[in-house]
Amino acid sequence: MAIDGPVASGKSAVGRALARRLGYRFIDTGLMYRAVAWAALCRGVDPEDGEGLAELARNLDIELQWGPEGEGGRVLIGGRDVTGLLRSPEVERIVSAVSARPEVRRVLVEKQRRLAEAGPVVMVGRDIGTVVLPDADFKVFLTASAEERARRRYLERLAQGEPTDYEAVLAEVKRRDEYDSSRPVAPLKPAPDSLVFNTDGLGLEEVVERLLGLICRQDG
Ligand code: DC
Repeated sequence: MAIDGPVASGKSAVGRALARRLGYRFIDTGLMYRAVAWAALCRGVDPEDGEGLAELARNLDIELQWGPEGEGGRVLIGGRDVTGLLRSPEVERIVSAVSARPEVRRVLVEKQRRLAEAGPVVMVGRDIGTVVLPDADFKVFLTASAEERARRRYLERLAQGEPTDYEAVLAEVKRRDEYDSSRPVAPLKPAPDSLVFNTDGLGLEEVVERLLGLICRQDG
């Protein structure tokens, strides 16, 4: 199952909930790009050095683990838990550039396809329905207005006790949208056969129930 969508569209939370309900494995591919960005920072690899990054990605032993309900996943690199480091401002600063390198994408897309071959998965990202799993049984592209997504991100940060300014979050969301959808390699766009689902005004539970309804109807 492929779930794509722009930043803060709720795809990770929705994907995790769907995977739990269906008993599938959940794979958040954004964490894999983040892991490569983090390793590049550690090893001093230039975010513009495509071949150097690809070599790093090829040799990186990334393990994605999923915990009990209510807990996010963990990411291990070479057995070390780096979960808390992957959303740092340093990683945030270079991850777009790292994920825009075609050499890196080739390596990670291959790893992602292998993960999907191992058993049923809900895979979340930007190019899952278009590039990674074009033959997925169910493809959904989650969207919401930039204002709604900025509001969710803003509330999330406030809840974590981070000092946050709504207008700044909105500007950041719009900047990321522009970057993700205009990059030459694997730009963010719905696959022609994916269901485009607008989540404006809907809570997580409502989105999950509606998608489960559609998935089950499709199966039946
Ligand atoms: O979803 P996220 O914010 O954790 O993603 C981190 C970065 O990786 C972001 O710049 C988008 C990029 N990404 C991508 O290019 N392709 C994917 N399948 C997943 C994420």
